Amino acid sequence: MQPDFLARAAALRREIERHNHAYYVLDQPTIPDAEYDRLFRELQTLEAEHPELDTLDSPTRRVGGTPLDGFAQVRHAVPMLSIRTETDTEASGAQSFDARVRKELGRDESDPPVEYAAELKFDGLAINLRYERGLLVQASTRGDGETGEDVTQNIRTLHTIPLRLKTGSPPAVLEVRGEAYMRRDDFERYNAKQREAGQPTLVNPRNGAAGSIRQLDPRLAAQRPLSFFAYGLGEVQGWPLPPTHSATLDALLTLGVPVCAERITGLGAAALVAFHADIAARRDQLPFDIDGVVYKVNRLDLQHELGFVTREPRWAVAHKYPAQEQLTTVLGIDVQVGRTGALTPVARLTPVFVGGVTVTNATLHNQDEIDRKDVRVGDTVIVRRAGDVIPEVVATVIERRPQPEPPRFNILQSHPVCPVCGSHVVRLEGEAAVRCTGGLYCPAQRKQALLHFAGRRAMDIDGLGDKLVDQLVERGLVRTPADVYDLSLDTLAGLERMAAKSAANLLAAIEASKAATLARFIFALGIRHVGEATAKDLARHFGTLDALIAATDVDLLQVRDVGPIVAQSIVQFFAEPHNIEVVGRLRDAGIRWTETSGAQRSAGSLAGKTLVLTGTLPTLTRDAAKVKIEAAGGKVTGSVSKKTDYVVAGEEAGSKLAKARELGVAILDEAGLLSLLVSNTNNG
Ligand code: IVH
Repeated sequence: MQPDFLARAAALRREIERHNHAYYVLDQPTIPDAEYDRLFRELQTLEAEHPELDTLDSPTRRVGGTPLDGFAQVRHAVPMLSIRTETDTEASGAQSFDARVRKELGRDESDPPVEYAAELKFDGLAINLRYERGLLVQASTRGDGETGEDVTQNIRTLHTIPLRLKTGSPPAVLEVRGEAYMRRDDFERYNAKQREAGQPTLVNPRNGAAGSIRQLDPRLAAQRPLSFFAYGLGEVQGWPLPPTHSATLDALLTLGVPVCAERITGLGAAALVAFHADIAARRDQLPFDIDGVVYKVNRLDLQHELGFVTREPRWAVAHKYPAQEQLTTVLGIDVQVGRTGALTPVARLTPVFVGGVTVTNATLHNQDEIDRKDVRVGDTVIVRRAGDVIPEVVATVIERRPQPEPPRFNILQSHPVCPVCGSHVVRLEGEAAVRCTGGLYCPAQRKQALLHFAGRRAMDIDGLGDKLVDQLVERGLVRTPADVYDLSLDTLAGLERMAAKSAANLLAAIEASKAATLARFIFALGIRHVGEATAKDLARHFGTLDALIAATDVDLLQVRDVGPIVAQSIVQFFAEPHNIEVVGRLRDAGIRWTETSGAQRSAGSLAGKTLVLTGTLPTLTRDAAKVKIEAAGGKVTGSVSKKTDYVVAGEEAGSKLAKARELGVAILDEAGLLSLLVSNTNNG
């Protein structure tokens, strides 16, 4: 009988691979990450305790082992060839290929057309996967075609590559050839993360794939997500070859090897021309970069008959599309202000045709990216435009820099104030972006600021949503949140899709929003890094808006959860006169809240508490009790509600006492109140 741990390990592997497949291939995660991690750790522990369990196809092998000193050389059993490339943009590429094939095969006009397989030319790195008895034993790069490098450890980190082929009767040897590539979304996500962390970004997905696979530390390789598509075979032993190329790819798919679905078979040049045109039209929408399409004679016996010229097969050709990267020169660097106030540097370029369109502007992302790429006005740069992603400058050609050297570009120096609104700009610690501080005032940030201001957790103006904000801003009716309070029924009724009833409702909501709390108001200002919880802490700590406005960095750091970055952001917000102006207008509009003075709040035992006095107390007059309560930071109100913390009841207390009992509010007598006040004195 097999030991329990063997059965458990096998079950864990099956389950983990099933989740891997759901997550990486189907994109439909089946269990929460934490649960997956638990299974994974259990398997790792089992394998550590029982080294005999540690097989090559265990999913634990996918996380990457120890760093290598270098890659071992691998001599390919069957050379890895390249294909002839046509760059014609029209149909002639397919037609001349078909003409050559027919001539070589001795077919003339009266013979039937040749059947072709057409597929994508993936833009990554060619890889040979060697399976022996169904198990992935080695992965290698193409190298010079004869000898490549052993990149097995890194290739194992690609979750879509099976570590074991899905078959009960595995071939003795099956070499699968294909391309390791990086999807565009994975590329963008990786770069965004790097940019955010101030780390180097990848130039393009192809470099990302190549760099990742040739990375000596497999754990680093594992952090750069790659994918794989098979497009052919190398050495094969003990596996009956299908009759055609397309059937071969179908067979690989059933073995669990990823094959791209964007492929066709068809007769003659016409089918190839149609495929070329179809893919050209959809190239931008593909989830990965391609640099062209590949045409192959479908029947393997005909491929054999056609053979090779030098190092290229006569039975295949690549037909390229226009490049997605081009050289051009930087005419100037402009700065654009985004919805959140971030200043984005944009290179103005000598117009260049790239990725199928003429590009005149390309993003430089932020100051760190400009510094890292060292882009200067006058430089020759590589511009990339792929998919629907906005064009970007990916590198500078330093050798072509004009002499004498142009100066480095610095956003803060060239734009000390916002190019849109003139407010001062800052770069907050730990942030890549330079930002305009005129959040309440800047036209570029208007819509964002208004939507935030009106939000449910902010001023809660029901009805002031996306569409309406668009209209109000675009018609110049509202420039800052303060203008909202000047809106009239007439103005609103003149807007699209605004019935009299909804206009009246909106006005009522605007009016109702004036009864605010200080915390809500602070949150509504949209100060960067000041969320709802921080706004509450600030309101509680400072008690009044003026105290907050006057607060220095040092004062702010006294507040719970406020660190240097938040403190800096608040100081900068109130240092901008435009913001103070808008805040003043909001107060003039009648927004109000209850403020508490400094003395009242000073760490009293009743700080933040609301009390109601009722009946006659034995020694204290009502006024005396009130003074004492307020001195301890508490508040005295006239009626009992759920928000009441204590009801202090004396002789002849009536309905308020009854109400307190009904709501379950704590009830004190004079002695109880005095003991609370004493504990206040003791606490200092
Ligand atoms: S077939 C003998 N098919 O293009 C033919 N290659 O020069 C072997 N490539 O670096 C290649 N997509 O990695 C073939 N669908 C595809 C391809 C493809 C990309 C790459 C391949 C190699 C180059 C061929």
